[in-house]
Amino acid sequence: EDPALLAEFEARIARGESIEPKDWMPERYRRQLVRMMSQHAHSEVVGMLPEGNWITRAPSLRRKLSLLAKVQDEAGHGLYIYCGTETLGVDRQQLLEELITGKAKYSSIFNYPTLTWADMGVIGWFVDGAAIVNQTALAKHCSYGPYKRAMVRVCKEENFHKKQGFESVAALAQGTPAQHAMVQDAVDRWWWPTLMMFGPPDSDSPNSAELLRWGVKKYTNDELRQRFVNLTIPQAQAVGLTLPDPSLRFDEATGNWVFGEIDWNEFWQVVKGDGPCNRERVAARRAAHEDGEWVRAAATAHAEKKAARGAT
Ligand code: 3HC
Repeated sequence: EDPALLAEFEARIARGESIEPKDWMPERYRRQLVRMMSQHAHSEVVGMLPEGNWITRAPSLRRKLSLLAKVQDEAGHGLYIYCGTETLGVDRQQLLEELITGKAKYSSIFNYPTLTWADMGVIGWFVDGAAIVNQTALAKHCSYGPYKRAMVRVCKEENFHKKQGFESVAALAQGTPAQHAMVQDAVDRWWWPTLMMFGPPDSDSPNSAELLRWGVKKYTNDELRQRFVNLTIPQAQAVGLTLPDPSLRFDEATGNWVFGEIDWNEFWQVVKGDGPCNRERVAARRAAHEDGEWVRAAATAHAEKKAARGAT
C-alpha cells in the first residue's frame, strides 16, 4: 500500500475521525471489519435459535411478548449489521452461504442448549449484558462509521433485553425454592461460557493488535471481560444468587473482582465447531434458508414482472 496514504489514514484514526465507506482504507482494515462485522451479524441470527426454543413455552403472555420482541430485535440486529458489511463491498449471499455451510464463525455462546425457562432470563442478563459491554465500546469509539452508528440503536435494544432478562431472574430467585434452584442452575451453566464470549485472553488474541491500532477496538478482550464481571457480580448478590467460581474475590486495591481460570480448551473446542449445539444450529439455519427458497423465487418473479411492466 502507498505509505503516504497509510500515514494519512493512521493520522485520521489518531484524530478520532470516522472512516466512511468511500474513504481510502488499507485492505487489511477492510478485511478485518468484514470478518468482525459478518461474525457479529451471524451471531445475532444464530442467537435467535436458543431463545426461539422457549417462545411457545413461556409461563405467561407477558413473558412471551417480551421474549418474542427480543428475538425479533436480534433478527433486526443481524440484518442491520449485514447491511454494514455490504458497505465494505461484500455480497450478503456469500456471507449467508458461509454460515449455512458451517464455514462462518459466530459467537460461541449460542452453541449451548437452553434447558429450562430460567435460561431465558439468564441469557438476557448475562449474554445481552456482555453484548452491551462490548457493543457500547463499539458505539462510542469504533473508527468505522457505519459499524459505530449501527451499534447506537443495537445497544438501546440490548438494554431492554438485559432488563427483561434480569427482571425474570429476580422473580425466579425470589420465588419458590424450586424456582430459585432452577435459576441458580442456569447461572451455573451460563457463567463461564459468557466470559468466553469476550474472546481469548489478550495473550492469545491474534486480531486485537491491529483492531486496537486502527481504532476498531478501544479495549482488549480481557479489559471488557473484567468490566462485565465487575458489573454483574453485585447484581447476582442483589438477588441472592451465587456464581460457580469458588476463587472469586474482590480486590480492594484495583476495584476488580478477581475470577478463576477459564477453560480455554472448551472455548477453542466450541469455536472450532465441536460445542454442544454447533451442528444443530448450522443445520437449523440451513433448513430455514432452504425452506425460504419459494419466498425468494416469488419475490424475484414479482420484481421481474414489475420491471417488465415499468418498461412497457
Ligand atoms: N466465539 C467465536 N469465535 C470467537 C470468539 C467467540 N466468543 N472470540 C474470538 N473468536 C475467534 C475470532 O473470530 C478469531 O478467529 P478468526 O480470526 O478466524 O475470526 C479468533 O477467535 C481469535 O480471536 P481474536 O480475539 O483475535 O478475535 P477478535 O479480535 O475479533 O475478538 C470478539 C473477538 C471480541 C468477538 C470481537 O470480534 C468482537 O468484539 N466482535 C464484535 C461483537 C460480537 O461479535 N459479539 C458477538 C456476540 S453478538 C451478541 O451477543 C448478540 C446479542 O444480541 C446477544
